[in-house]
Amino acid sequence: MDISQEPGGTGVMVIEPMGNAGRFLVEAAGRLRLRLYAATHKTIHDGYEPWLRESLAGVCFTDLSDTDRALTDMEVFCREHRVTGVAACWELLTPLAALLADRLGLPGNDPRLAAAARNKIAMAGAFRSAGVPAPRGAVVTDARHAHRVAASAGLGWPLVVKPAEQGGSWGVSVVHGPDQLDSAVAAAQRYTTARPHGLPLDSRVLLQSYVAGEEYSAETVVCDGVPYALPVVRKDTTAGRYRVETGHTCPAGLTRETTLAVQHTAARAALAVGVRNGIAHTEVKIPPGAGVPVVIETGARLPGDNICEIVEAATGVSEAVAHLRAVTGRLPDTTPTRDAAAAIRFLLPERAGLLEQVAIPDLPGTHSETYIRPGERVPEPTDSSGRIGHVVARAHTIEDARRLADRVIAGTRVKVN
Ligand SMILES: Nc1ncnc2c1ncn2[C@@H]1O[C@H](COP(=O)(O)OP(=O)(O)OP(=O)(O)O)[C@@H](O)[C@H]1O
Ligand SMILES: [Mg+2]
Repeated sequence: MDISQEPGGTGVMVIEPMGNAGRFLVEAAGRLRLRLYAATHKTIHDGYEPWLRESLAGVCFTDLSDTDRALTDMEVFCREHRVTGVAACWELLTPLAALLADRLGLPGNDPRLAAAARNKIAMAGAFRSAGVPAPRGAVVTDARHAHRVAASAGLGWPLVVKPAEQGGSWGVSVVHGPDQLDSAVAAAQRYTTARPHGLPLDSRVLLQSYVAGEEYSAETVVCDGVPYALPVVRKDTTAGRYRVETGHTCPAGLTRETTLAVQHTAARAALAVGVRNGIAHTEVKIPPGAGVPVVIETGARLPGDNICEIVEAATGVSEAVAHLRAVTGRLPDTTPTRDAAAAIRFLLPERAGLLEQVAIPDLPGTHSETYIRPGERVPEPTDSSGRIGHVVARAHTIEDARRLADRVIAGTRVKVN
């Protein structure tokens, strides 16, 4: 799998590898024998775990919240280190990756459309222009504006209220009437900058019609503008006001026809936001009876939530390898080599408090991880930061993988005070 044909090998710049996809990129870079560099801030780098620090061939220290400065610093660094590909793990940094690749003349995404892969308002515009099926929506600037629009725009109830720029379901609420609008808009506008780099966020808020139905995600890897479909994953979320992802399963258990429809729609969404060389993660819902997927969002990045792990465990396809091949202008290999199943389930507390105890059973075919340790505070389970940990289950069938993961969650003891 060696793709390092250039003298001195191939180097890829990852704009902030810290985060869920980073570990899969590091592992994929090892398999492809390419050098991985990071662009980050010194203080963030100081907090990197040893395995990440040690896996990097070099680091460009810069301020990613200052686009001009970051581009200048990264351009100098990439030329000096003969970097031939650029990748981003965090959605908010994907436009920066497109701009950097463009400056360096490397394979990358369309810099004129790249903002649409970060900002859900620009994304809605890009979907409209390209005819990608998406929820109806309207943009508001404050709660009073939201009341006027909710009363007049014909979006109906429930309404989904979400920040223009965020991830991890932060600030997303499903509201059932005008009495819930003020708090939903306040939640969507709670953060003016994004952690960890302090990127300024668009303060506008999106109101969307609620799309009923099951939810799925699918990656699309694009090479020189040609999309290649990756496996479809079923997504489970909480059902109430806050839609926190509680798990993912691969394969999704859809018919061949619906699988193709999801993959086709995901590819259209990726192309609509200018993905040309790299991967996109697209989320869709399929309204009951309709059979036509509606795109909730797409991002020009690898998926989070260990989806890379469950896709590879189920199908043998490494999405991180596909991504690194695409950003270095090489054809990705998307052929499944395995016919199994895998599921991930997240452990959510019932309420906020001090985590006193967490004990996850260790069943054969499963492994687990915790992110919040006893003695630490557990936030309210309103977004992905409220997760205590996860379990991954592998099996021969979808049902067995889901059942196994559910058994582990059911047997987990969590004490929050
Ligand atoms: N228009 C909609 N109709 C129905 N459900 C929606 C809609 N928009 C969002 N949701 C639900 O809320 C969840 C979070 O919304 P969205 O994906 O837009 O935000 P996000 O913060 O980018 O999410 P994440 O990063 O967790 O994927 C979705 O996965 C979906 O379950
Ligand atoms: Mg989402």
